Amino acid sequence: MRTKVAIIGAGPGGLLLGRLLENAGVETVILERRSQDYVLGRIRAGVLEQGTVELLDKAGVGEKMHAEGLVHDGVELCFDGEKHRFDFRELIGRTVMVYGQTEVTRDLMQARDASGAATIYEAENVSIHDFGGDKPSVRYTKDGVEHELACDFIAGCDGYHGVARASLPDGALKTFERVYPFGWLGILVDKPPVADELIYAHHARGFALCSMRSPTRSRYYVQVPLDEKVEEWSDDRFWDELRRRVDEETADRLVTGQSIEKSIAPLRSFVAEPLRFGRLFLAGDAAHIVPPTGAKGLNLAASDVGVLAEALIEFYIERSSAGIDGYSARVLSRVWKAERFSWWMTSILHTFPDTDAFGRRMQRAEFDYLRGSQAASRSLAENYTGLPF
Ligand code: FAD
Ligand code: DHB
Repeated sequence: MRTKVAIIGAGPGGLLLGRLLENAGVETVILERRSQDYVLGRIRAGVLEQGTVELLDKAGVGEKMHAEGLVHDGVELCFDGEKHRFDFRELIGRTVMVYGQTEVTRDLMQARDASGAATIYEAENVSIHDFGGDKPSVRYTKDGVEHELACDFIAGCDGYHGVARASLPDGALKTFERVYPFGWLGILVDKPPVADELIYAHHARGFALCSMRSPTRSRYYVQVPLDEKVEEWSDDRFWDELRRRVDEETADRLVTGQSIEKSIAPLRSFVAEPLRFGRLFLAGDAAHIVPPTGAKGLNLAASDVGVLAEALIEFYIERSSAGIDGYSARVLSRVWKAERFSWWMTSILHTFPDTDAFGRRMQRAEFDYLRGSQAASRSLAENYTGLPF
């Protein structure tokens, strides 16, 4: 089998890249280790930056998102029970869209299935070869049979634990990492959200986030120690803890119910450099991880593949290598800014085991400065709604 671009991973990054390339007449094959249902069963991100919304529109998959997604003009930060609303539309004329990663992925999968482009699910033992030269290939096993896919380029959109980054020779990559000493315990519940907009809460007992997927489905998170077991968190224990960390009015308004999903995600900052090796590119979580505070993970995967698609289309249509040559530097400059924002949001909103009294006052001063300063509020708004691609 032969294709132009072999894409590893059918997460939002790989699927969106595939869609953008197929729309421009560049043939792709996607290889995914898991089944379609497994990929759709993962509950992850929920907030789309305006640029991601525009990119999904450009890819022709925005119809359901505009019909069902919720446009949010702002968010609230709550500090030890005191709330302040940041109105992004008023501050900088931009907004975000609440529309789950599951829905984005489903829309992209449906569009791909309808277009007839090949996606091979449950592809085992995927390995990548000869990307240093101009005849790369990908090998994989499907139903016990080995296959080889010859291609012009390989896009590693296979997440943090994928095969693409792991296949690079020792010393090829420089990596930067910070692991945080806590995780997020999240639950999904079929009850109306507690407020019209998201509430990010700092509290001495730890961070909490009130989010949503729709007017009838809510998503809530609380910061927990890394060694916490999800089985030790009954729904009642979760609701009690959440109520303690938000302001009184929110706690009173909370509509609780039986959770339909409950899981713990660790928090990490990670960047690999560079993102291109000959004819192999890394994009999305394969290249970098952000802690979820600020909702940048999915959005970064989208902006990476937006740039990569442009570069590859330029290669095929204009016969120019300028885009692919500049891919790594262009993407990394935006990635580092999103890393900074996610790290900063994480550091002001969470309770760190080793923060002393001075550190706690610094967190408080950040909040007071943010709510009192138009310039600081605009900076938050600009970063949260997404920096330019
Ligand atoms: P992924 O979505 O990880 O997709 C990679 C795909 O590659 C997967 O389908 C995987 O099965 C496949 N794959 C892996 N290895 C191989 C292989 N060897 N061969 C073939 N296929 C392979 N972000 C937020 O903004 N907010 C959140 O609340 C949030 N919650 C998260 C919770 C969890 C548990 C995780 C892991 C991430 C979360 N994120 C969140 C981050 C966000 O979901 C990711 O940034 C986003 O999924 C990145 O998309 P991607 O396509 O790059 O990678
Ligand atoms: C959600 C996750 C985030 O990390 C965030 O900052 C906002 C919302 C969510 O899952 O809804």
